[in-house]
Amino acid sequence: MNSDNEKNVIDEIQRFVEKECKNPKSKYGYEPFENHFIPVVEYSKTLLKKEKNADEEIVEIAAWLHDIGSIIYGRENHHLTGAEIAERKLRELNYPEEKIEIIKKCILNHRGSVEKIRESVEKQIVADADGMANFDNLPGMFMAAFVYENKNQKEARNSVREKLQNCFNKLSLNAKEIIKPKFEAIMLVLR
Ligand SMILES: [Fe+2]
Repeated sequence: MNSDNEKNVIDEIQRFVEKECKNPKSKYGYEPFENHFIPVVEYSKTLLKKEKNADEEIVEIAAWLHDIGSIIYGRENHHLTGAEIAERKLRELNYPEEKIEIIKKCILNHRGSVEKIRESVEKQIVADADGMANFDNLPGMFMAAFVYENKNQKEARNSVREKLQNCFNKLSLNAKEIIKPKFEAIMLVLR
């Protein structure tokens, strides 16, 4: 269980992320908050129940902050910008330095496309949850293909299917087991 103080830091971070998503200058508007951040945090909590050795508070904070760089500065290098923003914000809240370091590592390593060895359970959970959230957000994946990548219907279908196939391949066994029914349903529809 989280203590009161830990709960306050988590709430504070959640409010910070929501405020940045609502900021008119935010790169992708408010939609990522509901369609990505919240599912990533929810899947992190689901995985925490299976990974008793993980630090709950660190995972939750890292899940809220993992894409903050993308919201404030855009997708490019958002793991680097995100880690910097997280450090600044958590220091402001007098959060312990050693925990800030682990959170930064979770953010630096969360991108499935940036191959790194995920040596801590916390990193693995955040990266898994980030990938799992895609399976709940087909509209968002198609929007990216049509709007940001200018694809036609056939290209978009192939691209979304391939992205989700890659995404599934990179998940841990625990995460695969949870997401498998959605993965199979989507592959059946997009084949
Ligand atoms: Fe993400």
